[in-house]
Amino acid sequence: MWITLLIASALTGGKVESTSQVCDTKLYDCHNMYPEAPMKAAGEVPDEEELETVCPDLVKMADCFAEYREECKELFEGLFPFYDRDGTLYKEICNKTSVLRSKYLTNVDCYKRIENASIYMLCYNEAISVYEQYVLSKETSDPEVMFRRPCMQMPYVLGCVAAEVQASCGDEAAETFIQVEKLKDSTDWIKYCLHNLEYKNEIYTDFLPSIQIAENLRRQINKVLDVLKEEITE
Ligand SMILES: *[C@@H]1O[C@H](CO)[C@@H](O)[C@H](O)[C@H]1NC(C)=O
Ligand SMILES: *[C@@H]1O[C@H](CO)[C@@H](O)[C@H](O)[C@H]1NC(C)=O
Repeated sequence: MWITLLIASALTGGKVESTSQVCDTKLYDCHNMYPEAPMKAAGEVPDEEELETVCPDLVKMADCFAEYREECKELFEGLFPFYDRDGTLYKEICNKTSVLRSKYLTNVDCYKRIENASIYMLCYNEAISVYEQYVLSKETSDPEVMFRRPCMQMPYVLGCVAAEVQASCGDEAAETFIQVEKLKDSTDWIKYCLHNLEYKNEIYTDFLPSIQIAENLRRQINKVLDVLKEEITE
């Protein structure tokens, strides 16, 4: 899908309509609906009580982004990755009949601990060093390496955090973590990578087989990739 969008934007790139200013203002307004202060107070991982406070604004924000996508199609198609402050996720998490919400709330204390312990940062640093070793082992100076870097690093980071969630909170918590991440803006890159045959092949036949990592970590990286691949068959 992303490829189609990129091509579409290349084709329509020149003729931006006079609605452009209206659309830019709208996008700016949508971004400003994010409840910064209470989300920060919630450590960016709101529990049930905190959701009561932030959900009205988050849902308004998500609806605003949905309107933007609809009303400003031409501009939207040129934006990749489209950053909607995880509106898609919060629309789901704020819906009291959502199954994902109830699974998320079951494990929210675990996610708060993980977030607070800066696991993401540790995993990010680990991903950088694993990727650098991988590049060195290939002994090539591929000019495209910088562009493919996120395709290898980002699944690693998420798999690494999921492995930590699994180790301290169990399988269900880890599975739900991945389902939640899937709805975040940050995974658009991985979805894009999995849609590109060349990058996808490199992840599966080159990068993953050549890195030396614990079995649980490998399992979680594969789960991340499996879940994000599901999205693409639409
Ligand atoms: C909430 O989720 C239910 C079931 O998934 C869905 O039918 C309903 O449309 C959702 N409500 C909103 C406001 O998104
Ligand atoms: C977060 O971690 C700090 C220490 O690193 C600790 O003092 C604080 O209580 C923790 N907060 C939560 C919500 O766990």
